[in-house]
Amino acid sequence: MRVPIIAGNWKCYKTVAEAVALVRELRQGLMNIKGVEVVLCPSFVALAPVADLLKPTGIGLGAQNMFWEDQGAYTGEVSPLMLKELCQYVILGHSERRQYFGETDEGVNRKVKAALRHGLKPIVCVGENLAENEAGRTAEVVERQLRAALRDISAEQVRSLVIAYEPVWAIGTGRPATGAGANAVIGQTVRGTLAELYGKALAQEVRIQYGGSVNPKNIAEFMTQPDIDGALVGGASLKAADFVAIVQETVRAKQ
Ligand code: 13P
Repeated sequence: MRVPIIAGNWKCYKTVAEAVALVRELRQGLMNIKGVEVVLCPSFVALAPVADLLKPTGIGLGAQNMFWEDQGAYTGEVSPLMLKELCQYVILGHSERRQYFGETDEGVNRKVKAALRHGLKPIVCVGENLAENEAGRTAEVVERQLRAALRDISAEQVRSLVIAYEPVWAIGTGRPATGAGANAVIGQTVRGTLAELYGKALAQEVRIQYGGSVNPKNIAEFMTQPDIDGALVGGASLKAADFVAIVQETVRAKQ
């Protein structure tokens, strides 16, 4: 049984004070939720104060990016050694990092390996852009990204990571994929590739999220799909009421 996982990617939003206020609201709303793992991913600067606030709650914490070296003269970077004191998860290979900050498949793989080496659980993002989607290249792109991200990752390690399928054309556009469409890519391409790499049984154990314009109204459409194990939520994770509703709908849909 795969435990569903809902993660909020706050991206480059919320000052530290705003992050603290949002977490206080979320703690209330998420207090008695069972059966779904919840993870918040604020900016680096908000990780420490948010970690303190989350300590008694069971809500998980993640970063949005990470460098692959443990330490060194790398001005501006944050290392896995630093993160593992504060959080359990780290989003890696998000399309915004690939698009605006030049992240490559190879770099994502280095980061995945570094995170796993330190016991951090990566949320590895894959997904095709609009042009690739329209050219019918979704499966090819997603498979390439996934194989590259998982290069030299052992079967034992792959169990602890989460994969997020985020079609780039659905991110921040208010134009989500359909539940059936996302389930097809996740079930056939993502789980299919995992099965080729690690065998069918292990492919069934790995949790795979959908991300892209998820909101309280459409979450059930995704969470009732057999191969989708949760969501990576952007915009709707910035409002406490919406994020709590998404988690509650997930509990209901997965029961
Ligand atoms: P939106 O939910 O704002 O579309 O963002 C999705 C996303 O990129 C999460 O990582």
